[in-house]
Amino acid sequence: MATYVVWPKREYMTNNTAKQIVPRHVAIVMDGNGRWAKARFLPRLMGHHRGVEAARKVIRNCSEAGVECLTLFAFSSENWRRPEDEVSGLMSLFMTALERESAGLLRHNVRLQFIGDRSGFSAGLQDKILQVEGLTASCSGMHLLVAANYGGRWDILQAVRNACTTAVAEGRDLASLDESSFSAMLSTGGLPDPDLFIRTGGERRISNFLMWQLAYAELYFTDTLWPEFDESSLREAFADFASRQRRFGMTGEQITGGNHA
Ligand code: IPE
Ligand code: IPE
Ligand code: MG
Repeated sequence: MATYVVWPKREYMTNNTAKQIVPRHVAIVMDGNGRWAKARFLPRLMGHHRGVEAARKVIRNCSEAGVECLTLFAFSSENWRRPEDEVSGLMSLFMTALERESAGLLRHNVRLQFIGDRSGFSAGLQDKILQVEGLTASCSGMHLLVAANYGGRWDILQAVRNACTTAVAEGRDLASLDESSFSAMLSTGGLPDPDLFIRTGGERRISNFLMWQLAYAELYFTDTLWPEFDESSLREAFADFASRQRRFGMTGEQITGGNHA
């Protein structure tokens, strides 16, 4: 059984194995804000407000644990289908969260980057996103990706368009395109694929999140609603991750170096 030592060390758990215990890249579908609010007879937007608080803590915890990259799903390309007042409430929440959190990100050396089709947002929000991205651009600590107006299919499609345009412009055959050069054209280009995917709120689906990038992620689902997901929930997810054997198509013996017979 894993035992905890201090949090701010990459090797924060000792379980006598040399395998990766803190995922390099964690991707989270922060689901359950609406149900959290409903259970308390509160408007859904209150759930989203509490969701921002939960996100702030998880960002800090991940950064302290030595996670290199954290991707948070904040608003999907399908979430525009929600009632108008919820959508506009979410947009102003993004604006205030960016205003309030930028100093803290800088203080914790966290680099913020948005992924998704930002042209869907108001000019004011687009400016704010650019401003905070610029402000934290040289931060060398954890890389925080916020997926907003993001869809995994959109991401693949924009990369395909990009790949075709580049190939035509450079007079190259598309056959030269391989998995690694294609990955580089996705919005997560240059970053490692997620090792651990977490979805709170009880649903067991991807909901058009990082379709390509999740190919070999370990999937972790919890019934905990996002506003209640805290440091101990994160530790539980990491402990579960540490107990998995990642085989990438190989046999268990190849991974452990054991007997093949
Ligand atoms: C996730 O919580 C946040 C967003 C999609 C913006 P939900 O709002 O989906 O919460 P539930 O699923 O209705 O409880
Ligand atoms: C996925 O949650 C998107 C975000 C958490 C931002 P949803 O609540 O929108 O997903 P579905 O609709 O239940 O699949
Ligand atoms: Mg939901």
